[in-house]
Amino acid sequence: MPRTTVPWLYNEFSHSGVNQADPDYPAYYEANMRRFRDFEKVAAEVAAALELTKDDLVVDLGAGTGAFAIPGARHCRKIIAVDTSRPMLDFAAEKARAAGVTNVEFAHAGFLTYEHAGENADAAVSIMALHHLPDFWKTVALSNVHAFLKPGGRFLLTDVVFSFPPDEYEKHLEDEATQIRRLTDNAFADEAYVHYRDEFSTYDWILEGMLDRAGFTIEKKTIHSPTRITYMAKNK
Ligand SMILES: C[S@@+](CC[C@H](N)C(=O)[O-])C[C@H]1O[C@@H](n2cnc3c(N)ncnc32)[C@H](O)[C@@H]1O
Repeated sequence: MPRTTVPWLYNEFSHSGVNQADPDYPAYYEANMRRFRDFEKVAAEVAAALELTKDDLVVDLGAGTGAFAIPGARHCRKIIAVDTSRPMLDFAAEKARAAGVTNVEFAHAGFLTYEHAGENADAAVSIMALHHLPDFWKTVALSNVHAFLKPGGRFLLTDVVFSFPPDEYEKHLEDEATQIRRLTDNAFADEAYVHYRDEFSTYDWILEGMLDRAGFTIEKKTIHSPTRITYMAKNK
């Protein structure tokens, strides 16, 4: 039975928390992200970390407005940009067209519903998206990534992941919101509160157990701040 037809599957299109399926959201998101992210530079760093070559097929899960997929496409053969928000994908597709990027394919699906066809992928990327799933479903998502990657395939996962001691959570959540407020507009910074309240970021020790059980070896962990981590993992 295809996963999409089982009655108990988590509805990953429901967008709990910030509604990223709102048609006005992509332009707003992009404008705020551009205030503190250099998409080209980060894409080059991600490509280097994944050791991408021109032969590689890459899947970007939760691709959003194409922050990685569009500049990242220069470093590989093809990127499949997967996202549950149709407006985000449409915005990314228009950006790709305007930039003359032709090797990004767009898939309206999510971690749970994306069905990979053809050859397995050499690498996968997911930046700031896995926290949209509750923990049980994160593990299902990671198992799906494991299944469509080649043996030894690389997976770079960046997300809002908590590495602070549990009894210090109030300080660290407020610190992060304050930091975002310095860099973006106030309404965008308030999304940090929506994130804590209605989305599903978790602790590093939980996510690391999930990666292990889903079939990954964590090769490198970069703690950017008490609330953000990048994992470089490899299919066991
Ligand atoms: C904070 S944005 C990050 C976008 C992009 N990766 C970046 O680095 O800017 C999160 C994205 O994940 C998407 N998303 C939410 N739930 C998802 C799911 N279950 N599967 C795939 N994408 C999802 C949202 O639509 C949104 O585009």
